[in-house]
Amino acid sequence: MPIINVVTRTGEARLVDAAEGISVMEAIRDAGIDELLALCGGCCSCATCHVYIREEFEHRLTARSDDENDLLDSSDHRNARSRLACQLIVNADMKGLELTIAPED
Ligand code: FES
Repeated sequence: MPIINVVTRTGEARLVDAAEGISVMEAIRDAGIDELLALCGGCCSCATCHVYIREEFEHRLTARSDDENDLLDSSDHRNARSRLACQLIVNADMKGLELTIAPED
């Protein structure tokens, strides 16, 4: 099971066990980190699961879909490392993934 390194909005570093096949959003939520509201439940329509992926891990991830890209555009906090955690499905390549939870819009 990959371990994901999560930095919360308060700067706390947490190690999250992430089962393959679930989303990164679900893994974070299941670990008891309540900063991701995930209001739409993971159907890519709310952008409340916004995270920043550390640059060196981006090549391990699937590309953003048009829907994810459009939703990220609605955030005042979007940057080049922005992703929606519900659109990232955990796989073995994500071992050691590092991300930071984006500020709330
Ligand atoms: S949970 Fe709504 S877009 Fe990710």
